[in-house]
Amino acid sequence: MVRSGRDGMPSFSGRLSDAQISAVSEYVASSIATVSLTGGDLSRGGVLYRLDCAGCHGATARGGALVHTGGNAPALTGLAPVAIASAIRGGPGPMPVFPVGVISSHDLSSIVAYVQLLQQPEHPGGVSLGYRGPVTEGMASIGVLGVLVLLVLWIERRGRG
Ligand code: HEC
Repeated sequence: MVRSGRDGMPSFSGRLSDAQISAVSEYVASSIATVSLTGGDLSRGGVLYRLDCAGCHGATARGGALVHTGGNAPALTGLAPVAIASAIRGGPGPMPVFPVGVISSHDLSSIVAYVQLLQQPEHPGGVSLGYRGPVTEGMASIGVLGVLVLLVLWIERRGRG
Protein backbone atom coordinates (compact mmCIF):
# COMPACT_ATOMS: atom_id res chain seq x y z
CA MET A 1 0.00 0.00 0.00
CA VAL A 2 2.74 2.47 1.04
CA ARG A 3 4.95 1.45 -1.88
CA SER A 4 2.35 1.29 -4.63
CA GLY A 5 -0.30 3.80 -3.56
CA ARG A 6 -3.84 3.29 -4.86
CA ASP A 7 -6.72 5.40 -6.11
CA GLY A 8 -6.34 8.73 -4.32
CA MET A 9 -3.35 7.62 -2.22
CA PRO A 10 0.10 8.68 -3.52
CA SER A 11 2.90 6.16 -3.89
CA PHE A 12 5.73 6.64 -1.42
CA SER A 13 8.12 4.49 -3.40
CA GLY A 14 11.39 6.40 -3.83
CA ARG A 15 10.40 9.01 -1.27
CA LEU A 16 10.78 6.72 1.72
CA SER A 17 13.72 4.36 2.14
CA ASP A 18 13.09 0.63 2.66
CA ALA A 19 13.93 1.07 6.33
CA GLN A 20 11.43 3.94 6.65
CA ILE A 21 8.71 1.94 4.90
CA SER A 22 9.20 -1.01 7.22
CA ALA A 23 9.18 1.35 10.21
CA VAL A 24 5.84 2.81 9.07
CA SER A 25 4.42 -0.68 8.43
CA GLU A 26 5.61 -1.80 11.85
CA TYR A 27 3.94 1.19 13.49
CA VAL A 28 0.62 0.58 11.70
CA ALA A 29 0.79 -3.15 12.49
CA SER A 30 1.61 -2.51 16.17
CA SER A 31 -1.13 0.06 16.64
CA ILE A 32 -3.61 -2.53 15.36
CA ALA A 33 -1.99 -5.61 16.89
CA THR A 34 -2.54 -4.24 20.39
CA VAL A 35 -6.28 -4.24 19.69
CA SER A 36 -8.23 -7.44 20.01
CA LEU A 37 -10.56 -7.58 17.04
CA THR A 38 -12.77 -10.18 18.62
CA GLY A 39 -15.30 -9.71 21.39
CA GLY A 40 -16.89 -6.61 19.85
CA ASP A 41 -20.45 -5.64 20.71
CA LEU A 42 -22.50 -6.20 17.57
CA SER A 43 -25.39 -3.86 18.37
CA ARG A 44 -23.04 -1.03 19.37
CA GLY A 45 -21.09 -1.74 16.19
CA GLY A 46 -24.33 -1.28 14.24
CA VAL A 47 -25.07 2.07 15.86
CA LEU A 48 -21.53 3.31 15.23
CA TYR A 49 -21.51 1.98 11.67
CA ARG A 50 -24.71 3.87 10.85
CA LEU A 51 -23.26 7.02 12.44
CA ASP A 52 -19.70 6.96 11.11
CA CYS A 53 -19.62 4.79 7.99
CA ALA A 54 -23.05 4.32 6.39
CA GLY A 55 -23.11 7.87 5.00
CA CYS A 56 -20.36 6.88 2.58
CA HIS A 57 -20.35 3.07 2.36
CA GLY A 58 -24.14 2.66 2.47
CA ALA A 59 -26.35 1.10 5.14
CA THR A 60 -25.59 -2.38 3.85
CA ALA A 61 -21.87 -1.73 3.05
CA ARG A 62 -22.47 -2.18 -0.66
CA GLY A 63 -20.69 1.11 -1.41
CA GLY A 64 -21.94 4.53 -2.41
CA ALA A 65 -21.19 7.61 -4.48
CA LEU A 66 -19.19 10.46 -2.94
CA VAL A 67 -20.41 13.55 -4.72
CA HIS A 68 -17.84 15.94 -3.24
CA THR A 69 -14.80 13.86 -4.28
CA GLY A 70 -16.23 12.59 -7.55
CA GLY A 71 -15.31 9.07 -6.42
CA ASN A 72 -17.01 6.16 -4.77
CA ALA A 73 -16.75 4.65 -1.33
CA PRO A 74 -16.12 0.99 -2.13
CA ALA A 75 -18.33 -1.93 -1.13
CA LEU A 76 -16.94 -3.56 1.99
CA THR A 77 -16.84 -7.16 0.87
CA GLY A 78 -14.30 -9.93 1.27
CA LEU A 79 -12.20 -7.95 3.76
CA ALA A 80 -10.30 -9.48 6.68
CA PRO A 81 -10.92 -7.91 10.13
CA VAL A 82 -7.43 -6.35 10.17
CA ALA A 83 -8.08 -4.70 6.78
CA ILE A 84 -11.28 -3.13 8.11
CA ALA A 85 -9.52 -1.96 11.29
CA SER A 86 -6.56 -0.47 9.43
CA ALA A 87 -8.87 1.43 7.05
CA ILE A 88 -10.71 2.91 10.07
CA ARG A 89 -7.44 3.97 11.76
CA GLY A 90 -5.56 4.91 8.59
CA GLY A 91 -8.29 6.50 6.44
CA PRO A 92 -7.22 5.56 2.90
CA GLY A 93 -7.76 8.18 0.16
CA PRO A 94 -10.63 10.58 0.83
CA MET A 95 -11.84 8.47 3.76
CA PRO A 96 -11.52 10.27 7.10
CA VAL A 97 -9.17 8.94 9.81
CA PHE A 98 -10.81 7.69 13.02
CA PRO A 99 -8.17 7.80 15.81
CA VAL A 100 -8.54 6.19 19.26
CA GLY A 101 -10.01 9.40 20.67
CA VAL A 102 -12.93 9.13 18.23
CA ILE A 103 -13.39 5.36 18.01
CA SER A 104 -12.05 3.51 21.07
CA SER A 105 -10.39 0.09 20.79
CA HIS A 106 -13.56 -1.67 21.92
CA ASP A 107 -15.68 0.36 19.51
CA LEU A 108 -13.21 -0.55 16.76
CA SER A 109 -13.78 -4.27 17.33
CA SER A 110 -17.54 -3.67 17.52
CA ILE A 111 -17.55 -1.94 14.12
CA VAL A 112 -15.32 -4.68 12.66
CA ALA A 113 -17.78 -7.31 13.94
CA TYR A 114 -20.72 -5.44 12.43
CA VAL A 115 -19.01 -4.96 9.04
CA GLN A 116 -18.26 -8.70 9.02
CA LEU A 117 -21.95 -9.39 9.62
CA LEU A 118 -22.86 -7.07 6.73
CA GLN A 119 -20.40 -8.93 4.51
CA GLN A 120 -22.21 -12.19 5.15
CA PRO A 121 -25.75 -11.30 6.14
CA GLU A 122 -28.17 -13.98 7.28
CA HIS A 123 -30.23 -15.15 4.37
CA PRO A 124 -33.86 -15.77 5.32
CA GLY A 125 -34.80 -16.86 1.78
CA GLY A 126 -36.49 -15.00 -1.06
CA VAL A 127 -34.76 -12.63 -3.47
CA SER A 128 -31.85 -10.77 -1.87
CA LEU A 129 -31.74 -7.99 -4.54
CA GLY A 130 -27.99 -7.78 -3.95
CA TYR A 131 -28.50 -6.90 -0.25
CA ARG A 132 -28.71 -3.26 -1.24
CA GLY A 133 -31.23 -2.37 1.40
CA PRO A 134 -34.65 -0.78 1.77
CA VAL A 135 -34.43 1.66 -1.18
CA THR A 136 -33.87 -1.16 -3.66
CA GLU A 137 -36.59 -3.23 -2.00
CA GLY A 138 -38.98 -0.26 -2.21
CA MET A 139 -38.19 0.25 -5.90
CA ALA A 140 -38.79 -3.42 -6.61
CA SER A 141 -42.16 -3.36 -4.84
CA ILE A 142 -43.21 -0.18 -6.70
CA GLY A 143 -42.30 -1.96 -9.94
CA VAL A 144 -44.36 -5.03 -9.07
CA LEU A 145 -47.26 -2.81 -7.96
CA GLY A 146 -47.08 -0.90 -11.27
CA VAL A 147 -47.35 -4.14 -13.24
CA LEU A 148 -50.39 -5.16 -11.16
CA VAL A 149 -52.09 -1.78 -11.75
CA LEU A 150 -51.51 -2.07 -15.51
CA LEU A 151 -52.92 -5.60 -15.43
CA VAL A 152 -56.04 -4.42 -13.60
CA LEU A 153 -56.55 -1.54 -16.11
CA TRP A 154 -56.13 -3.96 -19.01
CA ILE A 155 -58.63 -6.43 -17.56
CA GLU A 156 -61.09 -3.58 -16.93
CA ARG A 157 -60.86 -2.31 -20.55
CA ARG A 158 -61.38 -5.79 -21.93
CA GLY A 159 -64.41 -6.27 -19.65
CA ARG A 160 -66.05 -3.15 -21.11
CA GLY A 161 -65.34 -4.19 -24.70
C1 HEC B 1 -16.33 10.41 3.92
C2 HEC B 1 -16.65 9.11 3.42
C3 HEC B 1 -16.21 7.88 4.19
C4 HEC B 1 -16.52 7.56 5.51
C5 HEC B 1 -17.30 8.36 6.53
C6 HEC B 1 -15.95 6.25 5.73
N1 HEC B 1 -15.30 5.80 4.61
FE1 HEC B 1 -14.34 4.03 4.37
N2 HEC B 1 -13.67 4.60 2.55
C7 HEC B 1 -14.07 5.74 1.89
C8 HEC B 1 -13.37 5.80 0.61
C9 HEC B 1 -13.52 6.91 -0.44
C10 HEC B 1 -12.56 4.66 0.53
C11 HEC B 1 -11.62 4.25 -0.62
C12 HEC B 1 -10.28 4.91 -0.36
C13 HEC B 1 -9.27 4.57 -1.41
O1 HEC B 1 -8.82 3.42 -1.41
O2 HEC B 1 -8.98 5.46 -2.19
C14 HEC B 1 -12.78 3.91 1.77
C15 HEC B 1 -12.16 2.70 2.07
C16 HEC B 1 -12.55 1.90 3.12
C17 HEC B 1 -12.07 0.54 3.35
C18 HEC B 1 -11.07 -0.21 2.48
C19 HEC B 1 -11.89 -0.97 1.43
C20 HEC B 1 -11.01 -1.84 0.55
O3 HEC B 1 -11.59 -2.47 -0.36
O4 HEC B 1 -9.80 -1.90 0.77
C21 HEC B 1 -12.68 0.07 4.48
C22 HEC B 1 -12.53 -1.30 5.11
C23 HEC B 1 -13.52 1.15 4.97
N3 HEC B 1 -13.41 2.23 4.14
C24 HEC B 1 -14.30 1.06 6.12
C25 HEC B 1 -14.95 2.16 6.70
C26 HEC B 1 -15.57 2.13 8.00
C27 HEC B 1 -15.70 0.89 8.87
C28 HEC B 1 -16.03 3.39 8.24
C29 HEC B 1 -16.70 3.91 9.50
C30 HEC B 1 -15.90 3.88 10.72
C31 HEC B 1 -15.72 4.21 7.08
N4 HEC B 1 -15.05 3.42 6.17
C32 HEC B 1 -16.05 5.55 6.94
C33 HEC B 1 -14.95 6.69 2.34
C34 HEC B 1 -15.45 6.76 3.64
